[in-house]
Amino acid sequence: MTPVPVITIDGAGGTGKGVVSQLIAKKLKWHLLDSGALYRVLALAAQKHNVSIEIENESALTVLAEHLDVQFVAVALGEFPRVLLEGEEVTNIIRTEKTGNSASKVGALPAVRSALLNRQRAFRQSPGLVTDGRDMGTVVFPDADVKIFLTASPHVRAQRRHNQLKERGIDVNLSDLVEELTERDRRDQERTVAPLKPAMDAVLVDTDFLTIDEVVEKILSVVKQKI
Ligand code: C5P
Repeated sequence: MTPVPVITIDGAGGTGKGVVSQLIAKKLKWHLLDSGALYRVLALAAQKHNVSIEIENESALTVLAEHLDVQFVAVALGEFPRVLLEGEEVTNIIRTEKTGNSASKVGALPAVRSALLNRQRAFRQSPGLVTDGRDMGTVVFPDADVKIFLTASPHVRAQRRHNQLKERGIDVNLSDLVEELTERDRRDQERTVAPLKPAMDAVLVDTDFLTIDEVVEKILSVVKQKI
């Protein structure tokens, strides 16, 4: 039996991988996995259950990850899902930079990452999966059919994240955002397990001077050649 096809789209925050993945999943009518949302929900669950995110609490956080009661409710294939933690709507709350930062702390713990592996792989359902994150092409789906790694300069990424948050009604200071994103990138790149880096066989796409539609087009042309 041929495995269900997978397209992985990795990159740092603000490279546009979330919206690009969603548009591609929608176009192909495939499933969508926003793996960052899992780490964000876990960070929120830790806060809710008063487990502070420190290396000393790795086993408690791992238990939390194993039992994480999270639901992604999509209205249709390829649409952005609503996110529920223990039945409660957290779709917007998980998007703050504070939660992103906590997600990156919890994501630096190796046992936590292992606990989330199978949950992520379970999203590989017919007719196909588009997934975005930091280690989709390197660790979670090393046999993916197409691997993309998006890049963009720090200022462009901070500006995009700023606009995105504003659209969701979350107002933040741009220079604070640059600082927070830089710190988060450093942690994501320097961690010992599943650091942010392109897979050996990933196609690199610099998005600085491309619109979202141009990035989508570029990726779809790679998909056409490979799948
Ligand atoms: O992509 P997003 O900004 O939602 O991810 C939040 C954080 O979750 C990242 O900064 C990263 O530390 C962590 N993450 C991860 N592995 C993934 C996806 C996200 O470690 N596959």
